[in-house]
Amino acid sequence: MAKQDDENTPPRRPATRLVRSGRDKSLTGPFINPPVIHASTVLFDSVDDMNHRRQRYEYGRRGTPTSDALEAALNDLHKSDGTTLYPSGLTAASIALLATVKAGDRILLTDCIYGPVRHFADTALKNLNIETVYYDPLVGAGIETLFTPNTSVVYLESPGSLTFEMQDLPAIAEVAHRHGASVLFDNTWATPLHFNPLDHGADIAIIAGTKYLGGHADVMLGTASARGATWKRLKELHGSMGLHVGPDDMYLALRGIRTLAIRLERHEKSAMTVARWLQARPEVGRVLYPPLDTDPGHAIWKRDMTGASGLFGVVLNGWSNEQARQFVDRLTLFGIGASWGGFESLATVPHVPRTATPWHAGGPLLRLHIGLEDTADLIADLEAGFAHVAAG
Ligand SMILES: Cc1ncc(COP(=O)(O)O)c(C=O)c1O
Repeated sequence: MAKQDDENTPPRRPATRLVRSGRDKSLTGPFINPPVIHASTVLFDSVDDMNHRRQRYEYGRRGTPTSDALEAALNDLHKSDGTTLYPSGLTAASIALLATVKAGDRILLTDCIYGPVRHFADTALKNLNIETVYYDPLVGAGIETLFTPNTSVVYLESPGSLTFEMQDLPAIAEVAHRHGASVLFDNTWATPLHFNPLDHGADIAIIAGTKYLGGHADVMLGTASARGATWKRLKELHGSMGLHVGPDDMYLALRGIRTLAIRLERHEKSAMTVARWLQARPEVGRVLYPPLDTDPGHAIWKRDMTGASGLFGVVLNGWSNEQARQFVDRLTLFGIGASWGGFESLATVPHVPRTATPWHAGGPLLRLHIGLEDTADLIADLEAGFAHVAAG
């Protein structure tokens, strides 16, 4: 049977915690993994037991050993008081916002925010009389000028998942907390392996588990982890909305967490190889990838994060959108489709929605997710794409 940690256990490093966390034997029994519990009704021995809730598990929606194991793993990685699970990353983001605002508030959202979160703010939150102000992702402590007495939330996504600006979380959080506002941070790109937003000033760490936690393009999941009073608010709203995730998806995310360190190591190494190769191509104006020492966000990335994932942007020098489309259509190893974080490489030509800070890159933007294939094959595929566009 796996030995259990106790108060004498020394602090574990993140890669070890990915393997060990959420495996308390009260959840797994003698097995390495927890059971996948499909449950609605949970039975009690007596009416008294049921009415006085004298049981750890009461109803499928309110938790099972499967959800407890995944939540415990995420709490261990974030050092959070609690984690709530959602049917998608977008739900995690929208519920985290709803839990921290009230009608009449103003919220500050980074201009590089994931598009559907922008849509949620511009529609559902607007209908609740919540005003959204988008800010320049590079604003840092200068965000102070946007605060009003009713500003209740600042929401960061760093690096932005289309344009890859690194944001100065500690500087922004310091200002926000002085004004009594909550700080929400979408950490899908770095994952808690490489960055714990709660240790750098965020109140809620949000992850689209759909990406690297699942890691195999077969799960939809969101997570939000928090501490103290913020955790209580999140838990209350999550419970009262009856949010629930299917046990198979929770299990797959937990399984993905076990191999996250080794997968991310390979995603990062391969992404670096491909990014450096692209930087040397005459067709490429800029590669947007904070681990590159030429990237404007490199200093913040190096200061705050211990590693990277495999998603980056490429600005094509003076190309038309039509040429970018022809390039991506010609690739054979890069799938064309939404999302990222799975084992496979992907390429898209995204639209960049901006309202606070115009996006003028000097050419169309490609977004590449570098998967677990051999980089020599990926580079050969990209090279064939460039030759195809050059041949007109
Ligand atoms: C940065 C980021 N956050 C959140 C989401 C939303 O996740 P989901 O697709 O699971 O709703 C995405 C999806 O692409 C994303 O890229």
